[in-house]
Amino acid sequence: MDLADLTRDLEALRREALASIDAASDAATLEALELDVLGKKGRLTTVLRGIGGLPAEDRPKVGSIANTVRQAIEAALAERGTALRGSELETRLGAEAVDVTTPGRPIRRGTLHPSIESMRQIAEIFGQFGFVPYESPEIEDDVTNFQMLNIPPDHPARDLWDTLYVDVEGRLLRTHTSPGQIRVMQTEKPPIRALLPGRCFRYEAIDASHGSEFFQVEGLMIDEGTTMADLKGLLDQFAKAMYGPDKKTRFRPGYYPFTEPSVAFDVECLVCGGVGCPACGRSGWMTILGAGMVHPVVLQYGGLDPERYQGFAFGMGPERIKMLKHGITDLRLFLENDLRFLEQFR
Ligand code: PHE
Repeated sequence: MDLADLTRDLEALRREALASIDAASDAATLEALELDVLGKKGRLTTVLRGIGGLPAEDRPKVGSIANTVRQAIEAALAERGTALRGSELETRLGAEAVDVTTPGRPIRRGTLHPSIESMRQIAEIFGQFGFVPYESPEIEDDVTNFQMLNIPPDHPARDLWDTLYVDVEGRLLRTHTSPGQIRVMQTEKPPIRALLPGRCFRYEAIDASHGSEFFQVEGLMIDEGTTMADLKGLLDQFAKAMYGPDKKTRFRPGYYPFTEPSVAFDVECLVCGGVGCPACGRSGWMTILGAGMVHPVVLQYGGLDPERYQGFAFGMGPERIKMLKHGITDLRLFLENDLRFLEQFR
């Protein structure tokens, strides 16, 4: 191999390399080309191996040609690289374009279940009168659910609460929140103003107004000199806060073993305003809860001296409170989790 051969090879390499660089369509191809031509084991190195066979005076000439070839290829690589990166960026910008005028996707927000919402409203109203929420167990014992509430075993009053029993002797699912009265009396000293919201269970044939699972909110107030007038005034304020300030209310005689006297508390019919319609059985009134003065025997079971302390209790169904407010006619809707129903309470 002589000077002419080497010079020719170098020129050929330059031509080929420049053509390939020109034709490269992406950055990856360009990188591969660079390695193939200029890399340690690349084609330029291979050509320059022939330099050893040349006479000493020719070597610098080949060296300088090789340098210009290398520089030309490096310059071409750099230029093509810039161009390719530019157009790649443009392609990406085009493909990933964000249309800032597209409307946003709505965030789906949940809502409180109407039973829970109703209990919160009730708790908020009574909270303004100083009533504090308490918890009490859903699995109760017969003694607290019945006996300490003045309902002895085999007493006919038990028929008022069809009971679901647990597989443990003396245990049951509470049929009402009233056993919470006993638990609060046993742990707190008067004055007591307690609110006991919670789930209750009954062995019921399920229909539009009866469920086997439902909520109640129990209220209990105990102090010295508490009277029926306090109960009446408080419940009247509650009904006005819940249903409107001009709503009339009334007490009717009722019966519960754990209160004496016992009452049913009515608000004027929310549909007809008291004139009488099918919704209120033509009476003009709707019953919203049961209440009464805590029976002295119950106070004693709660560890309180009935000579010194008096109190009242009331119990209501938050579903019923809500049904009356919104004209809902079927209790089952509260348990079916049908979104068409639930979504109306936003
Ligand atoms: N516990 C009664 C019921 O389930 C309601 C009630 C509570 C009545 C407190 C009087 C006092 O029907």
